[in-house]
Amino acid sequence: MLSEKTISLIKSTVPALQENGETLTRHFYERMFDRNPEVRAFFNPANQASGGQQQALAAAICAYAANIDNLGALTGAVEVIAQKHASLQIKPEHYPIVGDNLLASIKTVLGEAATDEVIDAWAAAYEVLTGILTGREREIYDGQAAAPGGWRDFKEFKVVKKEKESEVITSLYLAPDDGTAVPPFKPGQYISLRVPSEDGSTTMRNYSLSGRPGEEHFRISVKREAGQGVPDGYVSNLLHKSVEVGQTVELAAPSGEFVLDQSTGSDRPLVLLAGGVGITPVFSMLLVALETMPERDVSFIYGCLDEKHQAFKADIDQLQRDHPNLKVHYRYSDRPAEEIAKETAANVSDGFVDAGLIDSVVSQRDADYYFCGPKLFMAAVNRTLVGWNVPRSQIHFEFFGPKEDLESPAASATAA
Ligand SMILES: Cc1cc2nc3c(=O)[nH]c(=O)nc-3n(C[C@H](O)[C@H](O)[C@H](O)COP(=O)(O)OP(=O)(O)OC[C@H]3O[C@@H](n4cnc5c(N)ncnc54)[C@H](O)[C@@H]3O)c2cc1C
Ligand code: HEM
Repeated sequence: MLSEKTISLIKSTVPALQENGETLTRHFYERMFDRNPEVRAFFNPANQASGGQQQALAAAICAYAANIDNLGALTGAVEVIAQKHASLQIKPEHYPIVGDNLLASIKTVLGEAATDEVIDAWAAAYEVLTGILTGREREIYDGQAAAPGGWRDFKEFKVVKKEKESEVITSLYLAPDDGTAVPPFKPGQYISLRVPSEDGSTTMRNYSLSGRPGEEHFRISVKREAGQGVPDGYVSNLLHKSVEVGQTVELAAPSGEFVLDQSTGSDRPLVLLAGGVGITPVFSMLLVALETMPERDVSFIYGCLDEKHQAFKADIDQLQRDHPNLKVHYRYSDRPAEEIAKETAANVSDGFVDAGLIDSVVSQRDADYYFCGPKLFMAAVNRTLVGWNVPRSQIHFEFFGPKEDLESPAASATAA
């Protein structure tokens, strides 16, 4: 329990943190990687280079300071962080490393404003936040270990099948190398895959599970990230080009809070929207929704460049034939003119996914929405739903990187 004095000292630092948040977190990561190189392998280098991780941590620190007397407001954010940490096997012993470096960076970046009293207040507040996060992470780890076929840390999985889904996306089917059961997962969740890195250490990436729970394998579907003027994506190219059937990779158990809510008994329509490789968690949701919610209207909108870049098309077409409660629409943003000129099916159109398209596909606006894709796609979908006054509890999305604010002026401006 923090004292009134500590709370008021923390709150007094909010304006300075808001102003210097990203400078602070940049300083923090540089300092930590320099002094504690042992934690470097947990972090995705691309998210450091893009600044996404610095922004996410800065936003989390500012939100924590601003809500220090109302921690209930942070429950959703805590769940996102705890699930991400659990996917990467962050453990209690790592918290003092982050804490020491963070306090040192607060001291350096806030300068004279960081009096001893302020630093002591932040040390106490960090302890409280550590307790909240490690408590939730322990629950997640215990749940993962207790699941049938569950495990702690990493487990070897064998690639049992590789299947090309589109020009750029390939699926890998992964089964436990020791023959144990494949644990259940919630549609929308992701695993972490750990592979050796170029520097002789290891590196991890998250991949959403694109198949149905309850099968004899996990399925991940990976887009090959081809660098244009920059190096190719490391892990996606390794999985496409070097990892073959029979080889093993290390997986951490399924995590993530972007999951299809099967508990509410809601009879509102379900609207699933995917952009590009963002299809992976959404496709798993589609498979499960059609099996478990036959009474609900399901709309599925899939935006991608063109048919060559479209994954799972034959499967989705078959689902549409089999399920009268499913309405599918494909939106292509880069079809060649001669393709566009040809007569196309009524459920195919050209352009970006926008408000007009969504409105024409859904049976009513008051629905449960789940979406995943590039940031501009997600900002456009989110803006549409917020504009329709869809309650936030009915809007769910996943970023393939640190969570970002879809309602920031920057997101709206670029998506316009
Ligand atoms: C929750 C979650 C779920 C995900 N699910 C999926 C999924 O289902 N399918 C999927 O394909 N991906 C998914 N991802 C993304 C995935 O984790 C990886 O980020 C992705 O595969 C790229 O990893 P990589 O190692 O190939 O690229 P990285 O090596 O991490 O590089 C990332 C990008 O940066 C570029 N780059 C590399 N070096 C440089 C440099 N020096 N300067 C500038 N740019 C550079 C690369 O070309 C690439 O485009 C998910 C991510 C998250 C967080
Ligand atoms: C109170 C302490 C901490 C806070 C507030 C915090 C906050 C965050 C936030 C906001 C994210 C982004 C989540 C998302 O949107 O995906 C994140 C991710 C992450 N955190 Fe923490 N974190 C804390 C402690 C730690 C510790 C102790 C470690 C261990 C070294 C750690 C390692 C990571 C890693 C590796 C990621 C993923 C980064 C990536 O994508 O590369 N964090 N954390």
